[in-house]
Amino acid sequence: MNCDHGAARSIDRRTALAGAVALAGAAGLAACSSSSTSTSPATSGGGSGSSGSSGGGAVSLAKLDAIPVGKCVSAHLGEQPVIVSRPSATTAVCFSAICTHMGCTVAPAGTELHCPCHGSVYSATTGKVLGGPAPRPLPRIPVDVSNGEVVTKA
Ligand code: FES
Repeated sequence: MNCDHGAARSIDRRTALAGAVALAGAAGLAACSSSSTSTSPATSGGGSGSSGSSGGGAVSLAKLDAIPVGKCVSAHLGEQPVIVSRPSATTAVCFSAICTHMGCTVAPAGTELHCPCHGSVYSATTGKVLGGPAPRPLPRIPVDVSNGEVVTKA
């Protein structure tokens, strides 16, 4: 009798623990997705956006003239949100717009990129972390300037 009772109590404890772990996991996911959905696709200027594919090679991301020197715009490379930046009058760089902290989409803010979820700040022209919890710079996407357009390297 005592043994059965003890076993039942042990199972109850295990079941309760598993339930608590499952709840904690679900809460983590909910927090993550709700903060992700709070990011709006902040397209400031930019013009052509992600259109302009030329048959499997380089993809046009933005017109260079649409980006103020020293600043950047949001764009898309397929489904991926990216940042296209213009460090000088004749050069452009591109970064993933996915924050290296927990994956929210960063938005241009002058010479910086701001993550709306936990406040990370990146340099708009280098992608380096300037503040906040982000552990790494934004990954760089190789681009060229061709005929006034910022295009991906084929
Ligand atoms: S996701 Fe946390 S700071 Fe960007």
